[in-house]
Amino acid sequence: MRNDHACSDPTAPDFLPGAHFHFLTPLYELLAWPMLGGVWRAMADDVCRTAQPGATVADFGCGPATVLRQVAAERPDLELVGVDIDAQMLAISRRRLPGARLLQGSVAAVPIEDASIDVVVSSLVFHHLPRDVKQGAFREARRVLKPEGLFFLCDFSMPTTRSGAWLVGLFGRFESGVASQATGELQELAEAESISITPRWTCWGCITQHEIRVQPLRTGVPSSFISGQGLV
Ligand SMILES: C[S@@+](CC[C@H](N)C(=O)[O-])C[C@H]1O[C@@H](n2cnc3c(N)ncnc32)[C@H](O)[C@@H]1O
Repeated sequence: MRNDHACSDPTAPDFLPGAHFHFLTPLYELLAWPMLGGVWRAMADDVCRTAQPGATVADFGCGPATVLRQVAAERPDLELVGVDIDAQMLAISRRRLPGARLLQGSVAAVPIEDASIDVVVSSLVFHHLPRDVKQGAFREARRVLKPEGLFFLCDFSMPTTRSGAWLVGLFGRFESGVASQATGELQELAEAESISITPRWTCWGCITQHEIRVQPLRTGVPSSFISGQGLV
């Protein structure tokens, strides 16, 4: 995907900025909050509920640390890592969350060690990415997560209500990733990588949180045995 939006720095990497135009990046959180404030809260709640004490959490496309800041406020025991391609976004997140490790990089090549993360989160990033970069992001989540790690992915997906279908039509005019995800692209890509993806909750009838297990269960062992039911 080419980014044809005004960018003053010709050496900057090619990506779609958080608020569609680079000049709006400082205002991203303010502009997005009316629609996404509840999504950020629910994502942070999912992390706080799931993460074990002292766990490491990585946010792929962290933006101005919208989710990580809420996690930090509730769970100071967690180690937080944010990755974003946009230096301007990272500068904002560094000011707001100085205690986190904030790294510049693409979600398709995150500067994080193998099997070092307990929970990966990503909110409203995938619809900004070309298909091959989304595929790369799934592979990177698999690489950096520990064997029993979880990936919470929240983004535009297949609409569940008429108003959700209307919103997808509206946003799809500006960002093509919204339209492709509305026809099941996330599920297709996850299946192509043998990744299990389960929708958990939906906001506005079109933004869905998916729980993803990137490590397949050990083969040859019945799942009922693994979950404990086979032990009686
Ligand atoms: C809509 S914002 C979402 C930010 C944050 N996750 C949230 O929910 O508020 C999308 C973010 O993805 C980042 N982004 C876009 N393409 C990226 C890529 N290839 N790798 C990493 N981050 C990317 C943008 O810089 C931006 O911060």
